[in-house]
Amino acid sequence: MSLVNVAYVPFLTWANPTITSLEAQALVPMLSEEPIELGLKWHEAAFLEAVRRDPVYQRLFPEAFPGVSDPYTIPNVTRAIAAFERSIVSMRSPYDRYRWRGDSSAISDAAKRGELLFFSSERAGCFQCHAGWNFSGAFFNTGVSTYDAPNRGLFEPTRVTEDVGKFRAPSLRNVAVTGPYMHDGSLGTLVEVIQHYAAGGKLDHPNKSHILRRLNLTDSDKHDLIEFLKSLTDEEMLHDLRWSNPWLHAEFHVIPE
Ligand code: HEC
Repeated sequence: MSLVNVAYVPFLTWANPTITSLEAQALVPMLSEEPIELGLKWHEAAFLEAVRRDPVYQRLFPEAFPGVSDPYTIPNVTRAIAAFERSIVSMRSPYDRYRWRGDSSAISDAAKRGELLFFSSERAGCFQCHAGWNFSGAFFNTGVSTYDAPNRGLFEPTRVTEDVGKFRAPSLRNVAVTGPYMHDGSLGTLVEVIQHYAAGGKLDHPNKSHILRRLNLTDSDKHDLIEFLKSLTDEEMLHDLRWSNPWLHAEFHVIPE
């Protein structure tokens, strides 16, 4: 998932309402039966030792956590990561200029028509799930897959049958540059995403949201919706050096093995 605007996301990951802070998320997965994707669990001491030995962190950690005898702790590492993630804010797309800053020529006529489709209950109705300024929302089953274990979405933490296949409606900001789409990457392009919704959700499922229905969209409507989604791409954010890889800059160097 994209980390853009993650500071404003109430529940993290695709389908776990119990993970509500970035600090907690940075420690996931914690349980021994889960795959240990990032390899931190059980290696905390060795990891902290590597951080403690690194000249860059010898400067940055005491600066970030002043007045403590040992700033090199796992809670401080997760605080630092979370603070960085919270800084990644996207609010400078052409759509933002058009909608919030009065620049009527910032997006194309096609994108303006797409916005109307997006926000119309009678036509595409997307806003009912992708809501607000961040175009994101709660958990829904959208008929994307057959939702076999262990990819049953919200069901995995809650164990409630009605939750099978419910996933978080992610933010659509910068979505034109973040394919493939959906929790399983099963839709490769925005064209496929629009076809999926036009058909009322690819697959039937007892939990599929009643908001989804077959949409009556012409080819030019579909094109307009995609132009609207593309207007959410924030080039300034994407090319902002503050969020590029700092280890590529001369003043930093790579953590020793
Ligand atoms: C019933 C709620 C609902 C409606 C209506 C809805 N979406 Fe979604 N959308 C979701 C959910 C939930 C997901 C994530 C599904 C998954 O991964 O299984 C999603 C995912 C997406 C994604 C992929 C995002 C990513 O990063 O992978 C795009 C793009 C998208 N929706 C666009 C739209 C558009 C355009 C419309 C209107 C035509 C729309 N959605 C209508 C709930 C909805």
